[in-house]
Amino acid sequence: MFELKFQSFGLGQWMHHPFRRLGGLVALIGLSLGAAVSAEPFRLQTPQGVIEVTALRPDIVRVRLGKATLPVDESFSVSPERRHATSPLTVSHDGNLVVLTTAALVVRLDPQTLKMTVLDSSGSTLLADADDADVAFRGQGFELRKHIPADAHYFGLGDKTGGLDRRGGSFTLWNTDAFLFQDYSDPLYKSVPFVLSADEKGHAFGFFLDNHWRTRFDFGRSERDTWVIGAEGGPVDYYIMAGPDPKAVVSAYGYLTGTPPLAPRWALGFQQSRWSYPTEAEARAVAGRLRSEHIPTDVLYLDIDYQDRNRPFTVDKAAFPDLAKLVHDLKADHIQLVLITDLHIAAPNDPAYLPFTSGKAIDAYLKDGAGNDYVGAVWPGPSVFPDFSVKTVRTWWGSLYADFVRMGVAGFWNDMNEPAIFLTDTKTMPLSVVHRIEDAGFSPRKATHLEMHNLVGMLNSQATFEGLLKLEPDQRPFVLTRASFAGGQKYAATWTGDNSSSFAQLNLATSQLTNLGLSGFAYVGDDIGGFAGAVPSPDLLTRWIEIGAFNPIFRDHSQKGKARQEPWVGPPEHLAIRRHYIEERYRLMPYIYHLAEENSRTGLPLMRPVFLEYPQTLGRLAGGGQPDFGLGGPFLFGPDLLVAPSATPESPGAYQVVLPSPGWYDYWTGERLAGVSVTEVPRLDRLPVFVRPGAILVKQPLTQSLTETPQGPLEVHVYPGPDCHGELYWDDGVSYGFQRGAFLRQDFTCKSDATGLSVDLGARRGAYVPWWKTVQVIVHGKVAGGVKITVNGRAAPARFDDASQAWRIDLAGDAVGPTEIKLMATAP
Ligand code: GLC
Repeated sequence: MFELKFQSFGLGQWMHHPFRRLGGLVALIGLSLGAAVSAEPFRLQTPQGVIEVTALRPDIVRVRLGKATLPVDESFSVSPERRHATSPLTVSHDGNLVVLTTAALVVRLDPQTLKMTVLDSSGSTLLADADDADVAFRGQGFELRKHIPADAHYFGLGDKTGGLDRRGGSFTLWNTDAFLFQDYSDPLYKSVPFVLSADEKGHAFGFFLDNHWRTRFDFGRSERDTWVIGAEGGPVDYYIMAGPDPKAVVSAYGYLTGTPPLAPRWALGFQQSRWSYPTEAEARAVAGRLRSEHIPTDVLYLDIDYQDRNRPFTVDKAAFPDLAKLVHDLKADHIQLVLITDLHIAAPNDPAYLPFTSGKAIDAYLKDGAGNDYVGAVWPGPSVFPDFSVKTVRTWWGSLYADFVRMGVAGFWNDMNEPAIFLTDTKTMPLSVVHRIEDAGFSPRKATHLEMHNLVGMLNSQATFEGLLKLEPDQRPFVLTRASFAGGQKYAATWTGDNSSSFAQLNLATSQLTNLGLSGFAYVGDDIGGFAGAVPSPDLLTRWIEIGAFNPIFRDHSQKGKARQEPWVGPPEHLAIRRHYIEERYRLMPYIYHLAEENSRTGLPLMRPVFLEYPQTLGRLAGGGQPDFGLGGPFLFGPDLLVAPSATPESPGAYQVVLPSPGWYDYWTGERLAGVSVTEVPRLDRLPVFVRPGAILVKQPLTQSLTETPQGPLEVHVYPGPDCHGELYWDDGVSYGFQRGAFLRQDFTCKSDATGLSVDLGARRGAYVPWWKTVQVIVHGKVAGGVKITVNGRAAPARFDDASQAWRIDLAGDAVGPTEIKLMATAP
């Protein structure tokens, strides 16, 4: 550890002050130590405070700061393994500044004031303090103030509303049951103190404040050029991630706080929910109708009314006489059942309610100031609340799922976990409620709800996820949570909460979902059709389903008391359009599933703002070229599909879609577009979707669920263009067999030259034997004079299909085996 003690003397003296190592005076003379390289943290102690800078990797530095001592090194978001990773830091000086350098970042620190500037390796400033000090301590809290450059934009911060760019806004991170939220509502359900900053020159960096107290991020709203980061308490402990580009920043944040584990594949299918399907007969009827209308579906949800008097982990036997049989029959029909299990435990005077008594027996509940179990009102009436920061309590909570798991219930929904409490002004519990922290990596202690509030949802979903894994170690859990915190992506998917049925809300969702994706949460969706408010018009529901088909989680859900809004509701022509979009999502599953697998390794989200892949569009888009920065507008689904709804979907007016480069393809017609600008005249049955030139998309034949075996060939769709590639990832979709080698990977590339187009299907890797027996390669776009295809140098039975205007080739038998296959497409 480099430790520098700096006492109060002038700069002249500082220049000659000895450098100290922890445990004693080691050093040579002051800053003449030039460039000392160390993989240990750098520490500096001054009258202003003590600061520690560590390089975890060349592109990630951690800064910790305290008034007299450094904050305790504990975290609910970053594992000890990550926090304690070290990479060399070169310590040198420049005049009176200490300069800390990695291969990717430079930190220039003024030892007098602790004022800091962070630059990238090319010397461009990424982040500079706004004032003459890095931090101002206020009471038990603090404030960091950073300078906002003219062309900087800010993203991330979880589910916040107000458009994609956070600049000009001010946000409070305090998990809140925000029923009927609007585009100005704040705070919302989740708290993710991670910000991705990108400027119009292409520089990007990440900033993550590892502090779960109530925090505030003001991006120039109060003071135009100042970014204020304030916390009511807790440590000054933050990380800065060098890009160089936005994707690298998002991946670095995934490295730090964890990437989402690969979900069961069925969770990517269409999900039907409602508050509530209150009887077994109704649940069966809904599932039956989805099947008879041929609406591909994988999941049906039961909301709180399946429970006995809303008590979690019970079943209302009058309404659901045989839940196990329902689960079994739905599964036989390839529909998975997901049950809501809210975090509150009813506190009845009823010894027969085992979830309450078993929790009581291990003293599982949060306490009020007098040391009694804190009781608050929620759906079941008076309820108690498990203390999820105690490991043994999480283990107990996880065990409550045993009966449902034995029945075959496939997933669970953790709601109301901000935590929401009725009949209070604050919508949550008193800040004086007492939590305990008892877990590996933490010194045991008590903490108030003021400190722990933002963690409850994440720890609740962690308890559920880990409990399910313990009950069925070889099944990938599916958990849906409403509240969460940074790192919560490791345990659960999430949705945006209680939205309402309006075109404005449909627009709002896009920037919420893309920002959640940038903030680590890749499995995200909203209530399709809108949860609350008026009943959606047929047009609104149709448009919502069209866009939802290109969102990571695709769940139709609505509030009690509202008319129904399943996809079949309304005029038949609407059902046909909705079915078509849901079907297309099912056909695209190999592409979508590959994105999910990529996400589990890299942290890159499935749904992406356009600038994530094309940072050069930031300036143009910020300049108003396209409403990418506002509400609604275009987004990417993976790197290859650009989805371009109208930013004013209720209006019939034509609008321009600006593509990132020339030569994109229309996804629906396969036609190649010449320029970068497309005029779209809105049509209810058309959601404009464009394909990147150079994309190779893998698709499958239509099924009614993702647990059914498709019949027919795997389709490899080639869209010739620069940087032509695509990937396939496949496995059984439910187990962890892939970690033991039971997966299949294949890379595809294509190249055009004077002789034509060659498509290369790379060698298969992994031991998983997939369902398909044949592969169909489809080359899109017009090829003058036709196409000749050869496989491994031999002419292959290619044919031109008039209906799809595409060349097709059927590869049978061992041609799809582990051998490399080469297709040559040339003009004859
Ligand atoms: C909350 C949830 C909503 C659910 C309802 C009843 O409002 O956000 O999705 O339907 O509670 O459980």
